[in-house]
Amino acid sequence: MSPLSITRNLPADATAAALRADVAQGLSATPKQLPPKWFYDARGSELFEEITTLPDYYPTRAEREILLTRADHIAAATNARTLIELGSGSSDKTRHLIGALTGLHTYVPIDVSESALTAAGETLLAGHPGLTVHALVADFQQDMTLPGTPGPRLLAFLGGTIGNLLPEERAAFLTSVHDLLSPGDALLLGTDLVKDEATLVAAYDDPQGVTAAFNKNVLQVINRELDGDFDPADFDHVAVWNAAEEWIEMRLRARRDVTVKIPGVDLAVPFAAGEDIRTEISAKFRQEGVRAELAAARLELTNWWTDSTDRFALSLAFRA
Ligand code: SAH
Ligand code: AVI
Repeated sequence: MSPLSITRNLPADATAAALRADVAQGLSATPKQLPPKWFYDARGSELFEEITTLPDYYPTRAEREILLTRADHIAAATNARTLIELGSGSSDKTRHLIGALTGLHTYVPIDVSESALTAAGETLLAGHPGLTVHALVADFQQDMTLPGTPGPRLLAFLGGTIGNLLPEERAAFLTSVHDLLSPGDALLLGTDLVKDEATLVAAYDDPQGVTAAFNKNVLQVINRELDGDFDPADFDHVAVWNAAEEWIEMRLRARRDVTVKIPGVDLAVPFAAGEDIRTEISAKFRQEGVRAELAAARLELTNWWTDSTDRFALSLAFRA
């Protein structure tokens, strides 16, 4: 096998059917909502990478700091021969982990974004010519069939992406992670932490407008894939802190009364001026909450590391 292989666990028609189902259901619901995974076509993946460089978007820098200081410890504690990464995107921070895992045989990045997987695989192999990269185009909430690769395995879920799942989705997801792991395998989980509202809102509403473009990209995806006629200029990007749930909500708010036609799902969707589509939640965590959610999935938290300003945490947990 060549050192880079890309397997599509999701046939293209399954992706199209899933988008149709999510759009039909989410835009007929009250309040309207869309799952965040549809942000990430090639343009959305590029916009996310741009977000990670913004002065106000601290999570990527904070998590990188933890990885840089703890990678050797993680490597010694796990002895991983296979590193699996969910929602791997550019795999940029993962390089620090790969560099430290001296016995690493195979890296398995998993993402819905094929363009991100291809670019990441090529960049990684240029720096680690001995590594086997077996990339999977798959939805980590649906299908996590893994290739047979040597253990121990370390499953990384970085960036705080677990916060983009609703609490009940997180519980189901963590149980599926438990079921994938064998005794001695580990989970490395990145979580953004609860902090003051101003810092959080600034991270999701940058003055450069990159997060707004990322948010509105989902409308372009619907226009392209389902022949919709959304005019992104009819919607404002909104980021609000939901203090009761301890999550940021990204929304798209209609600027005027408008009806959007989406022939691909046979819908005409009416919006009243001021009406929102919730496009993402980004939950923020506390140590005890993370420990409890892991324990509910029979994953035992062994290490909790934060960056120097306590903005972000990395947890290491083992299958109990
Ligand atoms: N882990 C990277 C990227 C985070 S962005 C980092 O820390 O910077 C979130 C990534 O998860 C994107 O690449 C997106 O395409 C992917 N993603 C989102 N929902 C997904 C799903 N349901 N299944 C697989 N990948 C998903
Ligand atoms: C991928 N995920 C963790 C990002 C977050 O912060 O929730 C996605 C994002 N949304 C807006 N900015 C970044």
